[in-house]
Amino acid sequence: MERVAVIGAGYVGLVTATCLADLGNKVICVDNDIKKLDDLKKGKIPIYEPGLKELVLKNKKAKRLIFSHSIKEATEKSQIIFICVNTPPLSDGGADLSAVEKVSTEIAKSMKDYKVIVGKSTVPAETHERIKQTVSMLKPKKIEFDVASNPEFLREGHAVSDTLHPDRIVIGVESKRAEEMMRRLYKPMKAPLLITNITTAEIIKHACNSFLSTKISYINAVANICERVGADVEKVAEAMGYDKRIGRQFLNAGAGFGGNCFPKDLDAFIYLAEKKGYEFELLKAVRRINSDQKKLIVKKIEDALWIIKDKTIGVLGLSFKAETDDIRNSIAIAVIKMLLEKGAKVKAYDPKAMEKAKNELKGVNFSNNPYDAAKNSDCLLVMTEWEEFKKLDLAKIKKNLRQPVIIDGRNIFEPEKMKKLGFVYKCIGRV
Ligand code: UDX
Repeated sequence: MERVAVIGAGYVGLVTATCLADLGNKVICVDNDIKKLDDLKKGKIPIYEPGLKELVLKNKKAKRLIFSHSIKEATEKSQIIFICVNTPPLSDGGADLSAVEKVSTEIAKSMKDYKVIVGKSTVPAETHERIKQTVSMLKPKKIEFDVASNPEFLREGHAVSDTLHPDRIVIGVESKRAEEMMRRLYKPMKAPLLITNITTAEIIKHACNSFLSTKISYINAVANICERVGADVEKVAEAMGYDKRIGRQFLNAGAGFGGNCFPKDLDAFIYLAEKKGYEFELLKAVRRINSDQKKLIVKKIEDALWIIKDKTIGVLGLSFKAETDDIRNSIAIAVIKMLLEKGAKVKAYDPKAMEKAKNELKGVNFSNNPYDAAKNSDCLLVMTEWEEFKKLDLAKIKKNLRQPVIIDGRNIFEPEKMKKLGFVYKCIGRV
């Protein structure tokens, strides 16, 4: 059993804290948002993440997981401290690391014995050097510490299972002492464990996310060719996926990737490369293809409806992907804003993300269900691949629509079947 502190109760922090507690460790999770902490103490979870609530309640009850606003208390009570605070993008492509600095300062001032301070937030490579510098400067003289990097690979919507059953664990360390503590912490997990130096660990995270983004932009580019020549991108992806060197995952063509990680990490890797004198042209193309996909969706609507002004568009899905209520960098939200700018009226529905989207989208009508969103709309636009949408009563949808037009930005329906049902159906990379 290790004593662990997790600073930051966002997606990564809360899931990490909960899963480490579930492995039997004593975990104190810190946040500076008092309302969020009050909710967590009452068992109310600030995000929608399957399985998380049950696990928080279980570990809270077992007294392995506690919540606090005090970094001082957390530092005193723990040996390993994870930094999981937000690192929002700056306008120049860099990351705002002020929260990381602030937390490092507070940890340093509260240290009474040896600590391992672990970076888990996605940070630009070399951030650990800064953390080390700050802590060295401010800590009591005789106290020793190590920094480490333990990048996070969890996907929202699968965060608990990804954390408890990871494909691999990466630990970047600089000392045997820190390595042994981190090895002990992860001993119960049956995943390959890679020990590297810290910069390598940080680059691994950049490289993984950028590669997955590249896969998505690649298949979206292939989808664009498929549309032009009359091929089917779903079959192309299936056949590519059987090649073990390629794999089928992350070859789903669609409206593009969003979320709090891929777009930000891509920018950060391009920025880091540039700073070091390397033009990462490949990743710049990945970014451009992704940004063009949302324009393609609007073009498909224009092709089907001609003029967008004063048309009513029903939109299904607002989160950046299914199984989450997260709307950060959601392509759905970006497309809706483009439609509103062109003078469309928008009726939107999402199973989980409407509350969050209401603050972001002014002038949109929110519907109680998908059929309501379709009612008297000129077209229905699918932006997120929620299971609920795949099971829709399409006859009812057709009856509700003013004209039977569906633009599917996530390829959730079969073109042949949709045509048979009498829809004008446009999706991505299939004709
Ligand atoms: C991602 C990484 O998968 C995870 O390892 C990392 O730690 C954080 O970033 P997440 O952002 O939760 O996780 O979502 P993910 O499932 O990877 O999807 C990202 C975006 O790509 C979504 O907008 C999704 O719709 C899109 N996507 C994904 C595609 O368009 N096609 C695909 O084939 C897969």
